[in-house]
Amino acid sequence: MSKYTLNVNGQSYTVDVASNTPLLWVLRDTLNLVGTKFGCGIGQCGACMVHLNGEPMRSCMTTVANVGRRAVTTIEGLAQDGHLHALQQAWTDLDVPQCGYCQSGQIMTAAALLKSNPKPTDEEIDGEMAGNLCRCATYVRIRAGIKHAAELASAKGGKQ
Ligand code: FES
Ligand code: FES
Repeated sequence: MSKYTLNVNGQSYTVDVASNTPLLWVLRDTLNLVGTKFGCGIGQCGACMVHLNGEPMRSCMTTVANVGRRAVTTIEGLAQDGHLHALQQAWTDLDVPQCGYCQSGQIMTAAALLKSNPKPTDEEIDGEMAGNLCRCATYVRIRAGIKHAAELASAKGGKQ
């Protein structure tokens, strides 16, 4: 076991875990941030997506030792100052989820997409979201949700 200090959603945490522990399990089991989901555990489904310094990253494939000083953002940290992220608002407006299991990962990938590309085309959305699987096949609503979020953000002057 080793001690690691992690910056998660703007807070500092010190955890005492094995160096090869996936970040996913530190978030869920040690920090009780269970919005990040375990789907496949082998980097194939995207349910475990978080941001490291704003970049989308599969937390099942990132060991705690590899996080380093990078800031971790989980679905719990996406809303800012009590305001939902445009994607969270759009997901609510359009009732995007079905069972919901994959959706935090979908939103985290989409948030990174909108940050780099505030007005993505259908093709760009499909390309960027291809690594996030949904067993309930909500893909059409996910795409609509991303477009709606882009409009909401644009109406607020680009603020997500
Ligand atoms: S649980 Fe990480 S990609 Fe599936
Ligand atoms: S909403 Fe059920 S797996 Fe995506």
